[in-house]
Amino acid sequence: MSLKHLISALPKAELHLHIEGSLSPQLMWELAQKHHISLPYHSVEEIEKAYNFSDLQSFLDLYYAGADVLRNEDDFYQLMMAYLQRCHQENVVHTEIMFDPQTHTDRGVPFSTFMKGFLKAVQVAKGEYGISVKLIMSFLRHLSEAQALQTLRDAEAWYDVIDAVGLDSSELGHPPEKFERVFAEARTLGFKVVAHAGEEGPPDYIWQAINLLSVDRIDHGVRCQEDEELMELIKQRQIPLTVCPLSNLKLCVIDDMSQHNILKLLDAGLLVTVNSDDPTYFGGFLNENFEALDVALGMTEAQCRQLAKNSFTASFLSEEEKQKWI
Ligand code: ADE
Ligand code: ZN
Repeated sequence: MSLKHLISALPKAELHLHIEGSLSPQLMWELAQKHHISLPYHSVEEIEKAYNFSDLQSFLDLYYAGADVLRNEDDFYQLMMAYLQRCHQENVVHTEIMFDPQTHTDRGVPFSTFMKGFLKAVQVAKGEYGISVKLIMSFLRHLSEAQALQTLRDAEAWYDVIDAVGLDSSELGHPPEKFERVFAEARTLGFKVVAHAGEEGPPDYIWQAINLLSVDRIDHGVRCQEDEELMELIKQRQIPLTVCPLSNLKLCVIDDMSQHNILKLLDAGLLVTVNSDDPTYFGGFLNENFEALDVALGMTEAQCRQLAKNSFTASFLSEEEKQKWI
């Protein structure tokens, strides 16, 4: 079996996916027309051509502007449904999906609008495809901790359908320590916790996410390799890193995929996983991220199988549910 065939045949979990980052140019275009929103583009192709980024912030500027076409419950339903259909095609049997409430509530879209749209799609996809889904509510780190605390409170009616909280958006200048209190409160409420750290930010941000936020997983974390002691801790504690190869390339965290460290981290015994992050902006869903590693780094079959296995080990499924796939 070719590696490409194996990649698509293996059951996989995806643990680092921003639902707003799965908005296709086609759906963005259709929703803009539906709501009479004028976009700074004249065609779907022009949207696609605009997706060239120099760093995280240059991407976030387009990502937040793009999300403005999401206005009513059906828009959020379509967004979620399109991603879950793609999961089904790619043999992604379990997914833990991040959503950014503040991106929507700050535009006047109520919590109930996006939650109802998401949950309706999740219910349909569970029934049609048997896929399992967990939801991660992420706070925008360029906003204040008080706003994150308010978001946690605004979500109260939805606590039973949210599994974890996360931290995303502009990393540099917004260290994890800024969110120590809101994460403590989230943990007290029983949520799992994750945080983006060490994508553009220094290893110190990963230390903070571990020591101050007590994260269950680190999103990205690729800059841990700059600190031997940190790498050893992540390995010893088997703290999962949800790595996103195509994202790292598109956001210039690396210059070329041949420089990516994920297989080195894997071979060193760290619990790394492959993920797509914002697939419609970065040029590939989950299988394309695996394929990019094969093309640039010559991933072996054993490494590929280990990465698929890690995706379940690092998930928030129960031990019993994990055993079904490992
Ligand atoms: N929000 C969406 N994608 C992100 C990323 N790669 N890093 C930080 N915040 C994000
Ligand atoms: Zn991310």
